[in-house]
Parts: sequence; structure tokens; C-alpha cells
Amino acid sequence: MKVSVIGTGYVGLVTGSTLADLGNQVVCLDILEEKISMLNSGKSPIYEPGLDELIKKGLKNKNLIGSTEIEQNIRNTDITFICVGTPSDKNGNIDLSYIKSASSTIGRALRDKSEKHTVIVKSTVIPLTTEEVVMPNILKKSGWKRENLGIGMNPEFLREGSAIHDAQNPDRIVIGFADDVARKTLKELYDPYKCTKLECSPRTAELIKYASNSFLATKISFVNEIANMSNIWGIDFQEVAEGMGLDSRISAEFLRAGAGFGGSCFPKDVKALAAAAKNSKVESLILKATLEVNDIQPKIIVKMAEERLGVIKGKKIAVLGLAFKPETDDVRESRSEIVISELIEKGANVVAHDPEGMPNFKKLIDVKMTPTPELATEKADCVVIMTEWDIYKNLDLESLLKRMNGNVLIDGRRTLNAKEADKVGFDYKTIGLG
Ligand code: UGA
Repeated sequence: MKVSVIGTGYVGLVTGSTLADLGNQVVCLDILEEKISMLNSGKSPIYEPGLDELIKKGLKNKNLIGSTEIEQNIRNTDITFICVGTPSDKNGNIDLSYIKSASSTIGRALRDKSEKHTVIVKSTVIPLTTEEVVMPNILKKSGWKRENLGIGMNPEFLREGSAIHDAQNPDRIVIGFADDVARKTLKELYDPYKCTKLECSPRTAELIKYASNSFLATKISFVNEIANMSNIWGIDFQEVAEGMGLDSRISAEFLRAGAGFGGSCFPKDVKALAAAAKNSKVESLILKATLEVNDIQPKIIVKMAEERLGVIKGKKIAVLGLAFKPETDDVRESRSEIVISELIEKGANVVAHDPEGMPNFKKLIDVKMTPTPELATEKADCVVIMTEWDIYKNLDLESLLKRMNGNVLIDGRRTLNAKEADKVGFDYKTIGLG
């Protein structure tokens, strides 16, 4: 099938390169010349394990190409995926400006096309957006009759850091369709995947995506709250999580307590769903609490450091980990941003390190950074681990302690073995361990 993908962020690039890998003819579209020329030179514009290889493979076998010629390429394909960003505005509401502009572009492109065309929204959008914003906009701009147009919503469930694996091994594929043209096209496109394919309306597909992300975010805030209780009562939350996870109704996934959830999805999606519900006169108490607990977690990390150091002012604190999770250079809504701002505000001399996230983090806070964790921790009074990268899991604790000025080690992600850290002589503290 001939596929066009608008937007070369995580979702667009992974959708494009995995569909090309299935043998489709894919063109990835973006207005940014720089991203497209990187893509066409075989390099992913974002850091994602395995993506460079998949792009190179697609370019080599001519199933994948990038282009800034958007309208012409939409016209020449059978199906267009909208994979543009849906950020939050300052009140937490979803900002649909990129969605509106992509659908207008598609409408203009279709003006001169006579064959059927399917448009699928893959971006995360609040219920009714596909039917009440995207479809009318395309019909208006194209002048098309409704029957020639396929309209659907097909959410993406990939995680950054394991995006290729997730896209190629989905738990389920949600096929939201408004008509038979979209249903038939999506079923054919996803035929090679043998997982459960759930067919539903576009608005149901839209809510499945929000409800899934909000549920997972709520699960994290819930375990963080229980872990905070464990701290008080001298209980190891990891054991509690193990006991909970053995119940198949709960599952052992997403029970890791720590500094809270970050990234480009959970914080934005929980806010957007809560705001959309509120605009429709349904107040979500649970989503509000999910966000509140998530705001508290990084503050607990700072408090742990403060309690051990006495005063923060003038102390050298090494923060290891800036990306919102390992295997990504993405620092959006990273909990490290909150921790580092608070530490700086309290007068600490912060030195940071991250294997991939430093260039992006520099745009958020111009904190001192070092090329290695060893340099960052040299003569530090306290080390705070904020992302569970392997490089930190494998730190040699004895030499770390020798390098440091003090012995305070705060583990925001339960990265290290607590008993080992204690044995070496650290004053080790983590969320969920009394
Ligand atoms: C999330 C969802 O997991 C994907 O299914 C979804 O497709 C994606 O959002 C999206 O909407 O695009 P992602 O944000 O890449 O994926 O990362 P996750 O692995 O879900 O982690 C999110 C945050 O939760 C991270 O900061 C992580 O450290 C935190 N987390 C995760 C915990 O604090 N505890 C856990 O047990 C799991």
C-alpha cells in the first residue's frame, strides 16, 4: 500500500519505518527541511534504539523516503496518517493547532484527486476530534463528497526507548473507523500483525488511548503514594509491589515507585483528559489526584537530600539522569527538571550527567554538565540518581564513595541495591524503603 505519514516525531517515524518494513511504500512528510534531510541520509532525527537501522533498511530497499513536498505526496498515496504533536496549552487543554493545520493540508491536497483516500489520526486526541474537527476540515478544504473519503482513528501505544519493538509486537491494534473505506484499508494494512484487532468508532478509539495512558499514570501515582506510606512504616515497597503484582488482575507491570512519571505523554494526556472532562461538566477527582501525587514525588527527593545534608546551600550535588526514562534523549516533563530547579533555588552547586539527554536538557536549564558520571560525582556531597540508566546501575560503589566528599546517595528510581549501598558506607535513601 502507498502510505504517507505527516509528522516525523516518535509516532510518525516509528509508524513510517515499521510500515515500510512490512513492504509498504512509505513517504514521511514534514515541513522541517532539516529533519527530512537527516531522514534521507539514513539518520533518525530522534534518538531511539533500532530506528536508524530500520530507516537505513527502508531507504535501501526504496520502501521509505522523507519529503517536504507534502500535498503532492499525500495525493500520490492511498492512506495518510496524521502523526503531529498535540501539546497542552497553559490550562492543560489539548492544543489542536497542528491537527487542524494537517487536516487543512490534506483537504487541499485531495482537491485534485479523484480516487478514494483514507485519512487516519494517530496523534493522541480527545474524543470527537476525528469526527468533528479532522473530517469536516478535510471535506471543506477538498470539496469532496463524504463517500470517497475514509476516516479513522488508530491510536499508538509505543513507549519511547522500546518504540520499534512495541510497534512490531503490539498487544492490540485499535481500528477506529467512521466508514467502510477506512475499516477496509486499516484491516488490510495491519493484516500481517496477528494480535487482537479491536474495531470501534473513532471516538471510542480516542478514549481508549487516553484511558490507557491515564490508567497507567494513575497506577504509578497510586504505587508512589503507597511507597510514601512504606517509607514511614519501615516497609520495603518493592516487596509490597511483588506481592501485589502476583495478582493477575493487578499485574506486575508499572509498579515501580520513585520520582514520578514524566515524558511527552502521561503528564500531557492526564491533564488533557481532565480538562476535556471538566469542559463537559464532569470533574475527574482521580486524574486530579494522579497529577498532584506526581508533583509531590520530586519534592520528596529534594527533601531526602536536605534532611541528610542539613543545609543544601553551597553543597555540591551530582544529579545522574536527565532523560525522563532510560534509552531516550527525551527530557520533556522529566522529573529531573523539577529536582534540579529546586536544588539550584536552595543554593546547591548542581553538576549533572546523562548518557543521551544532556543537549536537550541544556535548553531547559543551563546547569553544569560533565561527559561522564565519574566527573559529575567528583567531590560531591550528595549524589541523586534520577534515571535508571544501566551505566548508573553498574556504578562501582566503592570508587564512587572514594571520589565523593560526602556519603549521601538518594536514589529516585530504586536503581541500586540498597543493602550493597549501605554495606559500602553510603547514607542511602530511596522512595519506598523505610
Ligand atoms: C507511554 C505509554 O507507556 C505508551 O503505551 C504510550 O504509547 C506512550 O506513553 C504515548 O502515549 O505515546 P512513554 O511515555 O514512552 O510511554 O514511557 P513509559 O515507559 O510509559 O514511562 C512513562 C513514565 O512513567 C517515565 O517517566 C517512567 O519513569 C515512569 N514510570 C513507569 C514509573 O515511574 N513507574 C513505572 O512503574 C513505570
